[in-house]
Amino acid sequence: MKENIFKDYNELSEAVADQVIKQIKNKPDSLITIAGGETPLGTLQILSNRLLNEDIDYSKVTFVSLDEWVSLNESTVGSCRESLNTNLFDSLNLTDEQVVFFDGDAENLTDECKQIDDVINRNDGLDLIILGIGMNGHLGFNEPGIITRKSSIVKLADVTKQVMNKYFDEELKLTHGITLGYEQILASKKIVLMANGARKANIIQIMKDSEISYDVPASILKDSNNFELYIDEEARRLNEKD
Ligand code: F6R
Repeated sequence: MKENIFKDYNELSEAVADQVIKQIKNKPDSLITIAGGETPLGTLQILSNRLLNEDIDYSKVTFVSLDEWVSLNESTVGSCRESLNTNLFDSLNLTDEQVVFFDGDAENLTDECKQIDDVINRNDGLDLIILGIGMNGHLGFNEPGIITRKSSIVKLADVTKQVMNKYFDEELKLTHGITLGYEQILASKKIVLMANGARKANIIQIMKDSEISYDVPASILKDSNNFELYIDEEARRLNEKD
C-alpha cells in the first residue's frame, strides 16, 4: 500500500484532483467513480474549476455512482447524487449518458444495480475510484461484516445512521444503502482512499494495523496493488512519534 501524506486538506484535495485530471488526459473515455460525503468536496471544487478553465476534453468520461441512500435521489439535498451534482456535474457540460448513478428512490432497486453493473462490465471495470472512509471503516455502503460482490442493497450500520445527520437539513430515518460491491471496487485500475482530519486518524490506524478482513472494510483494499492511501497530517497523527 502506498501512502501519500499531505500537509493539509487543501493539498490533499489538490493531489487527488491531479489524479483525476491525469486519468482523463491519459484515457479520455475513462469510467470514474467519486464518493459522495464531505471528504471529496475540496477535490470536486478544484476539479470543476480545472475542467472548466483548462483545455481538458472530458466529453467521453463517464462518472459512475459509488452509492446512494435507499429512498433518496438527487432531489434531496445531502444525497450522494445531489452533492456530486452541486459540486461538480452541474458546472460541467455533461450529457445525460456521462453520469450513471443509482437512483435510491427507484421502484426496482435490483434494476438500478443491474444498470450500474452492466456499465462497469462493458468497460471491463472502473478506471479510477476515489473513496472516502466511514468512521467504522466502511467503503461506499459496504458496512463491517457485510460481504458484497457487485452492486448491492445493504443495511446501514448504526454508526452510519448516527453520522448521516450531518448531510441533511432534516432528520431522516434511513435504513439501507445501495452500493458498488467489493469486486467492482477492487477491480478498479486505480483505487484512491482519501481521509482528512483528526476524527479519521483512529480508523485509518485500525485499517493499517488490521489483517485483511470484511470486519474492517477498508482493510480489504490492502489486497490490491492498485491501491493508494491519500491522507492529510491530521488523519495520520495517531501514528506520529514526534
Ligand atoms: C459516500 C460514501 C461513504 C463516505 C464515508 C465518509 O458516498 O461512499 O463511504 O465516503 O462515509 O464520509 P465523509 O467523507 O462524509 O466523512
